[in-house]
Amino acid sequence: MTIAQGPSERTISTDPDWWRQAAVYQIYPRSFTDANGDGLGDIAGITSRVPYLASLHIDAVWLGPFYPSPLADGGYDVADYRNVDDRLGTLADFDALVDALHASGIRVITDIVPNHSSHLHPWFQEALASAPGSAARERYIFRDGAGPDGALPPSGWGSNFGGPAWTRVPDGQWYLHLFAKEQPDFNWDNPEIQEDFLTTLRFWSDRGVDGFRVDVANSLIKDLSEPFRPSIDKVLGGDLPIDGSDPLYDRDDVHAVFERWREVLNEYDPPRSAVAEAWVPRERRLLYARPTELGQAFNFDLLLAGWNPHEFHDVITSNLNDAAATGASSTWVLSNHDVVRHATRYGLPSGADHNAWLLGADAAILEDREVGLRRARAATLLMLALPGSAYLYQGEELGLPEVSELDDHVLQDPTWERTGHQEKGRDGCRVPLPWARGGESFGFGPGGSHLPQPDWFGELSVEAQDGAYGSTLELYRSALRARAQLQGNEELDWQVRETEGVLHFIRSSGWHCVTNFSQEPVDLPAGVVVLCSGPLQKGLLPTDTTAWMLQ
Ligand code: GLC
Repeated sequence: MTIAQGPSERTISTDPDWWRQAAVYQIYPRSFTDANGDGLGDIAGITSRVPYLASLHIDAVWLGPFYPSPLADGGYDVADYRNVDDRLGTLADFDALVDALHASGIRVITDIVPNHSSHLHPWFQEALASAPGSAARERYIFRDGAGPDGALPPSGWGSNFGGPAWTRVPDGQWYLHLFAKEQPDFNWDNPEIQEDFLTTLRFWSDRGVDGFRVDVANSLIKDLSEPFRPSIDKVLGGDLPIDGSDPLYDRDDVHAVFERWREVLNEYDPPRSAVAEAWVPRERRLLYARPTELGQAFNFDLLLAGWNPHEFHDVITSNLNDAAATGASSTWVLSNHDVVRHATRYGLPSGADHNAWLLGADAAILEDREVGLRRARAATLLMLALPGSAYLYQGEELGLPEVSELDDHVLQDPTWERTGHQEKGRDGCRVPLPWARGGESFGFGPGGSHLPQPDWFGELSVEAQDGAYGSTLELYRSALRARAQLQGNEELDWQVRETEGVLHFIRSSGWHCVTNFSQEPVDLPAGVVVLCSGPLQKGLLPTDTTAWMLQ
């Protein structure tokens, strides 16, 4: 087998299972490209980059929220589920983007945020203007307070972004918000909410959207019986019980919601795909990914694993077994808009507290950019060789590290204020992309950038890496192109070289992936090296390097 080189024409396949082994590129729209010069990325900006996206050989893009939003949480506070934010464009712009992507063989996945709306959503405004006990309040979760005059929150539940999960309104009632106070939680026991989200799924599916990424899928159904029981404090990375007994997260009844969603998604040809964001224990994750529900659930285990072959091996084996047992396909993620970029994570001391590093609170935590990038490139090649779907985050193809030097006053993540400045938050991975070596906002747009870009962005820009031998951008392009040709079935065979610290697996197509986690260069198996995350040393695979081979 040989790998074709040069430009390739891609068209949308008719395969209804296209999502099972897709390479999906996540776009955080407000930080991708700004066409209208207001400092915020927009839809027209994304459309202008379709040739770039096509050059990456991805199968789909996942568009983060582009809906009208006051941006209390980067757009995950939606004021209108079936529209485009004025600052980002119009529905016609959206349609043009979908057409342009489809014409380049790229499918479109959009975010859907069902747990909570923005406080500016008309329904929440109506609820505020209505009396306690009214139908308008029943769309959200309003309760009387505790204590003699109801001045205490109804329960001790905490918000994922710090502080209490309840906020009081002027008439004395409290409403629940598992995230910022500008993100009131919907009442999913209310049939009107259930129906409205089916309408939203149809609205975007009718416009040609191919799939959905379901935000905080695990928290829609809550046990609100009183007295309220304690819940874990933070679901992102927290330890949930594996029996569905937490009152707020991962309750068994949530699956009925997604069974209904699947019926709607299956009304389309091909059926619309879906992937759950569910920070739940591994054993529970696969429930969301059942074919009768969403089909896939994000697996964050690789993202959470340290740079060591045992952890990688365990994570890969267990997740592939889970997928095989349920008929789902596995997913892999190393970076997204919620975590420190992997080129930085791998360059921090193992087990380092990322928040302490961002705050500059621990002088002993130093970032080694060279090691970080070398490992990130090796980890990416390993991930891209795995069966299942790989979700990539904008900028990782440039090897971007986290921007840790954001001044406090520019921070946008609600976490910063809600934790009383104890957690710096996620802005460091959301800084607008550098497209050009220099100039206004490094080519992001003519009107500056809503988060400041560091000086060192220029040398990592698309312009600096485009066509440059050995650049991370060219590595991603070659890898994604080869991956599309090398995919086999969804199984792999291990050839672990335990004592050497080497992970080696083989796909059904005869595609070998070998990663050296050890400190010493190691031998490669016989065969032809197709791609390597770094140069070989006298024919040996150096430390922190992955090679793809054919025999
Ligand atoms: C998800 C999103 C995150 C957002 C949160 C609340 O975890 O990925 O960015 O802040 O949901 O919507």
